Amino acid sequence: MGYTDIYNEARDNPERFWLERSQLLDWYVAPRQALSVDENAMERWFAEGVLNTCYNAVDRHVAAGRGQQPAIHYDSPVTGASETITYGELQNRVAVAAGGLRGLGVGKGDRVVIYMPMVPEAVIAMLACARLGAVHSVVFGGFAAAELAVRLNDAAPKVLLTATCGIEATKTVEYMPIVAEALALTSVTDIHVVVLQRPQLDWVLTEPGYSSWQVLSEAPAAADCVPVAATDPLYILYTSGTTGKPKGVVRDNGGHAVALAWSMSAVYDTAPGEVFWAASDIGWVVGHSYIVYAPLLMGCTTVLYEGKPVNTPDAGAFWRVVSDYRVKVLFAAPTAFRAIRKEDPTGAQFAAYDLDCLETLFLAGERLDPPTLEWLGRITGRPVIDHWWQTETGWAIASNPLGLELLPVKAGSATRPLPGYDVAILDAQGRSLPAGEQGAVAIRRPLPPACLPTLWQDHVRFDADYLAPYPGFYLTGDGGYLDSEGYLFIMGRTDDVINVAGHRLSTGELEEVVAGHPAVAECAVIGIADALKGQLPLGLVVLKDGVEYTPDVLEADLIARVRSTVGPVAAFNRALVVARLPKTRSGKILRSTLRRIADGEDWSIPSTIEEPAALEEIAKLLGS
Ligand code: COA
Ligand code: AMP
Repeated sequence: MGYTDIYNEARDNPERFWLERSQLLDWYVAPRQALSVDENAMERWFAEGVLNTCYNAVDRHVAAGRGQQPAIHYDSPVTGASETITYGELQNRVAVAAGGLRGLGVGKGDRVVIYMPMVPEAVIAMLACARLGAVHSVVFGGFAAAELAVRLNDAAPKVLLTATCGIEATKTVEYMPIVAEALALTSVTDIHVVVLQRPQLDWVLTEPGYSSWQVLSEAPAAADCVPVAATDPLYILYTSGTTGKPKGVVRDNGGHAVALAWSMSAVYDTAPGEVFWAASDIGWVVGHSYIVYAPLLMGCTTVLYEGKPVNTPDAGAFWRVVSDYRVKVLFAAPTAFRAIRKEDPTGAQFAAYDLDCLETLFLAGERLDPPTLEWLGRITGRPVIDHWWQTETGWAIASNPLGLELLPVKAGSATRPLPGYDVAILDAQGRSLPAGEQGAVAIRRPLPPACLPTLWQDHVRFDADYLAPYPGFYLTGDGGYLDSEGYLFIMGRTDDVINVAGHRLSTGELEEVVAGHPAVAECAVIGIADALKGQLPLGLVVLKDGVEYTPDVLEADLIARVRSTVGPVAAFNRALVVARLPKTRSGKILRSTLRRIADGEDWSIPSTIEEPAALEEIAKLLGS
């Protein structure tokens, strides 16, 4: 059966389709029904099923006789370290770490926050939580103390797992001061902190409530897998919304494991024993799904890479890793390849390695711009597949379904909706738009397995943000269109979310930080086009009356403020002082017109504008 038949089967009989796929897993109690509705009137998958995600990702492969197979290749050009961990070793280390967590009082349903670099201990910690039925929440290492604190407050963990440092190319990022500051900012008490001492940075642990990693690596008793309901949460992953408060996306156990295991064959065309590498970070959804859970659920070997696409040491870094570990499928963000192309436009580095093993490249995290698609296809000679998804869904919504059928590629399109996703393009009134017309991209309910059922302790926000705008649909927040052949083109966010180097950021959040500066009366932050990172934030700032501030000094202050509050990853490097912000008569800042001006696109003065001169002044300032 090809893509169309399978897509239709999933759409016409989701119950039967997903129940069949649930057999990809080992269950303590196998579900007899796929779909039901929970107390929030939200559709849920496999509600009666009982399983353990860690068992399915680790133990069952050992039980099947594959204990000697590599589960993880850890490769760290920034430290010179590398390590291969077999499934058998992984099982032992995860079971001991789970025993250690249990010793710290962590049990089913308890939260554990993981603020760690890309080291095997971080993956082991995630799996150890899953083993106990505890809920992990990984916080990306590039976030600053205030961001960590917001997440600690919301998740209220019993334990925070961290390390002495991360390594960013040649820079050592000290975690302990960030952790101490975050803990001082949180209202949650009694958090036990466990610290991995990295050889690159020693830390003398003197504070009460802190332990060294030995409590997890040398715990006296290993813990076995704890059966959990399919609908119990596996993790919370915070992502940017349109306000300063991030959204705690909740992932369940059963639906997640089923969809991810299936995606490894249907989307990525991989089989047990093959090597799959997602060059992302465990702090993002791509890292959760395709560094950790999906490859291990499938019994593949995953690569954990602590490095960058360039500068660690050069633009051949990705190709070296693919060659060393015989990677079959490489998944990365377009920005990473733009960085490689900038340094190695002719692909000389690609040609320097033995890359017979590499069959396909998958890209996501931001729109795959046609020049990058063309370049990558040309230098690698492999299929380059753009696929579109988001933290909320946990796996791709639209992709070229390689494992079902390789469909013709159209530049600028993430190809067709995957089985399980019924994508519609809606106008402001919620009417379906015909082919070729751009509107809000929505998914008809039920969402397939793995998609979020709620936001952590905030179902009201979940309803308001995603479900209420269009009854019967989930609103993705992206705009786009379907063409006459059903290909989906994602054109960008319709809300105040921007995408910087594949990282999702909220301009609302950045505005809150900038507006908090004592000299700032008001501000707007917009995402402007950038050839390397896709988008970069630009701050437009109005000073308070009577305040004297040299623009350069203010800009430096604001940059420092965003770095220390949100984190360096926001790449907030530019702020301009303006006399006033252009607004509509109802007081809304004209952000999209500002963005068009900054990007050098055609623009006109909207009829709703209060003071046209405000826009003209900024256009002059931006040279447009
Ligand atoms: N811990 C601490 N700091 C981090 C960090 C982490 N895990 N990740 C990034 N940072 C810091 C960087 O050191 C940098 O700090 P600086 O301003 O002091 O130099 C800043 O955050 C921005 O980092 P980054 O976005 O990595 O930009 P860069 O200019 O250093 O590198 C690229 C550019 C394109 C090479 C890089 O952005 C990249 O690899 N992008 C791919 C992203 C990706 O895989 N996204 C996954 C989504 S699927
Ligand atoms: P995140 O939740 O961080 O994964 O970011 C999700 C958002 O990134 C989506 O809503 C899109 O705006 C954007 N995105 C991710 N992948 C793609 C893609 N292949 N094409 C276009 N936009 C994408």
